[in-house]
Amino acid sequence: MTGTFITVEGPDGAGKTTQLQLLADRLTAEGYDIVMTREPGGTRIGNEIRSLILNPDFQEMDEMTEILLYAASRAQHVNELIRPALAAGKVVLCDRFIDASIAYQGYGLGYSIEQVRSINQQATNELSPDRTYLFNLSVADSKQRMMDRGALDRIEQRDDAFRQRVYEGFLTLAEQEPERIQLVDATQSIKALHTILCQDALAYLKKRERLS
Ligand code: TMP
Repeated sequence: MTGTFITVEGPDGAGKTTQLQLLADRLTAEGYDIVMTREPGGTRIGNEIRSLILNPDFQEMDEMTEILLYAASRAQHVNELIRPALAAGKVVLCDRFIDASIAYQGYGLGYSIEQVRSINQQATNELSPDRTYLFNLSVADSKQRMMDRGALDRIEQRDDAFRQRVYEGFLTLAEQEPERIQLVDATQSIKALHTILCQDALAYLKKRERLS
């Protein structure tokens, strides 16, 4: 059986990284072989690209350079880590994937959605997540949580208008793919969110097993 590719997405500060770790622990306890990873990053090369993209010193970074760097990190990630893990039947839990590029670089920066999608389809050889949890958090809440966390990276330093476009972009994606993208209310407690994610992920994995 091939593995399952699950991603989490949403505005900065939505708590997806915490939830991904909790989900990984639970699924491991249920006997699943888990690979937990993130974008940009996930590989040695991807982590170097991550520092380059997020470094606030590089304010001169061209927007197309930014799009291509995210896609380059993703190409390395898919080929080095994600596809081999899926081929080995593992459950890959990934913190962000192509939806983030569409929301941030497409809707956020105002690039053609089709262009961003097409670059990323080439980078990943059309790999798409099987299931995605989109953490729904308003721009005001996201900003507050980011401020509480401290120093902002280059993308987090962008203004509220950018954040609003990203937020609306994510919601548009959820509307377009309601089967894959599950919208979850990120203002709930950590425990409540964890329960929802576990229930859905376990039911989804069991369903895939039945169908395989
Ligand atoms: P993270 O904080 O979730 O690790 O992501 C790093 C930042 O990069 C975050 O502000 C979202 C942004 N990002 C994009 O703009 N495009 C992308 O394709 C990805 C994966 C992340």
